[in-house]
Amino acid sequence: MKIEREDIKVLYSLDEIREAARKLGKEITNFYKDKTDIIHTVCILKGAIHFFTELVLNIDLDVVYSFVHVTSYSGTDSTGRIRVKSWLDEDLEDKYLLIVEDVIDTGLTLRYLMKYLKKYRPRDIRIAALAEKTAHDHGIDADFVAFELQDQFLLGYGLDYDERFRNLPFLGYLDK
Ligand code: IMP
Ligand code: MG
Repeated sequence: MKIEREDIKVLYSLDEIREAARKLGKEITNFYKDKTDIIHTVCILKGAIHFFTELVLNIDLDVVYSFVHVTSYSGTDSTGRIRVKSWLDEDLEDKYLLIVEDVIDTGLTLRYLMKYLKKYRPRDIRIAALAEKTAHDHGIDADFVAFELQDQFLLGYGLDYDERFRNLPFLGYLDK
């Protein structure tokens, strides 16, 4: 499929995303503040990059950053296979982990990550996501979600179609 810039419509503007990140950051701060004063975040590259940077600026606790790079998508569909391109080397034992994902679709990526992150024996694992597609059961219990959506293909604000459109300054959908 050939996608052009004109085929992409705004679903949420940058202001709306920032407002949602502010709210979620507060919620996250309130959730953790009686449990710990330091959170270990794991940002899932590449898609979550913008959401991650916005979200952590709104968390009023110490936040340690880790990054993993995994892929599963080709074009507009999940390939059903996860490829790990880079992984973390932090000690996560007994830590409060917060995974930051862009979109939860089939849930495959997070199920895979959770399985491996649990081997580090963290004290607690939570999930924050920019968007969750609720059209089918993905089996993931996300704790902090900015936007709940139907089964739309999203682009922009970190999300790509074969590596394009990640830098659109809004969360868009394909109108085609
Ligand atoms: P899942 O493993 O099916 O839950 O899909 C998660 C990954 O696929 C996310 O990390 C996204 O990078 C990518 N993805 C899922 N839905 C979309 C979309 O609508 N647009 C772009 N990428 C998506
Ligand atoms: Mg991705």
